[in-house]
Amino acid sequence: MNTKPLQHGALRVATQGAAQPRWLVTGASAGIGEALALQLAQAGYAVLALGRDARRLQALRERSPQIDTVVCDLADVAALPALAAQWVQQYPDLGGVVHNAGIQDNLRLDDTGYGARQICQEVDINLVAPMVLTQALLPHLQSRQAAWVVNITSGLGFAPKRTSAVYSATKAGLHLFSEGLRVQLQGSSVRVVEAVMPLVDTAMTAGRGSGKISPAQAASEVLAGLRRGRNVVWVGKARAVPWLQRFAPALLARVLQRG
Ligand SMILES: NC(=O)c1ccc[n+]([C@@H]2O[C@H](COP(=O)([O-])OP(=O)(O)OC[C@H]3O[C@@H](n4cnc5c(N)ncnc54)[C@H](OP(=O)(O)O)[C@@H]3O)[C@@H](O)[C@H]2O)c1
Repeated sequence: MNTKPLQHGALRVATQGAAQPRWLVTGASAGIGEALALQLAQAGYAVLALGRDARRLQALRERSPQIDTVVCDLADVAALPALAAQWVQQYPDLGGVVHNAGIQDNLRLDDTGYGARQICQEVDINLVAPMVLTQALLPHLQSRQAAWVVNITSGLGFAPKRTSAVYSATKAGLHLFSEGLRVQLQGSSVRVVEAVMPLVDTAMTAGRGSGKISPAQAASEVLAGLRRGRNVVWVGKARAVPWLQRFAPALLARVLQRG
């Protein structure tokens, strides 16, 4: 167990009896979110795991007594402020949120049948929901001694994939939202962290790409970054993004266009 003293805003491993934050993890019914929920629970944190798939959430809940679950469709963004108020009332220990839920449409903008409804849904789930939910939770988070907002972004937020222009735009948006919110919350008790993912072996990437890391590896790197008090956690191969952006942007663009 990591018992290093707290840096400002750094996450410490939960110790028995201490008042530790509960974590709301969105998209916890599968993939990276499921791994994050399990690892937070294993580290001693209480977790509120959110997703749409009640059956998968129930299975997750059965794996740890630390995990509670909530079925919620984040695409219904207008409902989120009232839901957030309920969650805060029910779980006053809520002190961290991981905006992990996401979808990725592999479509060109001129593909037949691809229209406004589908575009809005992807933007709502990936970008608007984290913004609205953060706003709704903020007064509660700011009232705590230490709190975290963690946004899961992607290398595709730094250079786009050819068949996922909308997805890439949502991740670029979430990247800049993280930066802007961090500036707004400077000096407050709320730390804003961005975790930039490489290709991870989940349902989202089924049947494509190579050299993927496991969701468990991705989650453990996120938690390690939180423990170190990082503002940005570059996970796996995403660590190369800042260097490539600076010194070889054409290469970065070529590699990521293929997704
Ligand atoms: N996998 C990668 O290579 C990769 C790379 C870069 C970034 N990321 C990002 O990492 C995050 C997790 O991705 P993943 O690969 O773990 O995906 P995944 O395995 O497809 O899981 C996505 C999760 O999001 C939830 N979700 C989707 N739409 C939702 C909605 N409307 N309301 C509530 N929950 C919803 C799903 O839950 P339900 O099905 O229960 O709704 C599921 O738990 C995403 O933000 C993704 O963009 C992934």
